[in-house]
Amino acid sequence: MLEEYPKEVTLKDGFSCTLRPMVCDDQEALYRFFVSLPEEDRRYLRDDPTDRRLVQKWCRELNYNKVLPILAEHEGSILANATLHRQTFGWGKHVGEIRITIAAEVRQRGLGSQMVEELSDLAVRGDLDKLCARIVASQSEVIKVFEKNGFTQVAILKNFVKDVYLGEYQDIAVLVKDLSQTEG
Ligand SMILES: CC(C)(COP(=O)(O)OP(=O)(O)OC[C@H]1O[C@@H](n2cnc3c(N)ncnc32)[C@H](O)[C@@H]1OP(=O)(O)O)[C@@H](O)C(=O)NCCC(=O)NCCS
Repeated sequence: MLEEYPKEVTLKDGFSCTLRPMVCDDQEALYRFFVSLPEEDRRYLRDDPTDRRLVQKWCRELNYNKVLPILAEHEGSILANATLHRQTFGWGKHVGEIRITIAAEVRQRGLGSQMVEELSDLAVRGDLDKLCARIVASQSEVIKVFEKNGFTQVAILKNFVKDVYLGEYQDIAVLVKDLSQTEG
């Protein structure tokens, strides 16, 4: 499944970067990537990737069967981190969850959509039937990116998360993509 990496992708405007699974040696570059994100993006993160120890733990405990992180890289810098999370056992074994973060300087050029497509392909080839994404409901432009790439909003979890800086509740939109019709 991962034999095709590293893989070169070219965006609509001609910009190209390399996609590949994260490896242990990416620790420092990944930390720098998260630290460089705008504060706005860090408001609703599930973890605090600006904590060096957390990034070290991710690298130490890499297990592609549970979390498959695909990075986009250009001239030694990480421009995107896209992760496919899956359960190895139980009633949700056929469902993957994706999380995507694109460096602020390369947004709105198609890389986010490219990463959604990349993870969808990997999910199909990994025998998953569905993908889900959880997005802060007020981020309508982010939701649109996922909808354009085959996701449908199926639920709103009212007042479900708290802004890590202000402590205010926010709704979460749950989006699902059905992969069962997609060719592997
Ligand atoms: C959401 C995110 C991944 C989108 O990445 P991206 O590279 O900007 O996405 P794309 O360029 O593929 O966007 C696709 C479309 O949405 C539009 N778009 C994306 N963000 C937009 C914004 N903030 N305002 C207006 N339009 C936007 C793009 O113009 C593009 O339109 P097009 O297909 O007509 O050209 C990126 O903004 C990000 O990393 N956000 C922070 C983390 C996050 O919220 N992740 C999602 C939850 S897991």
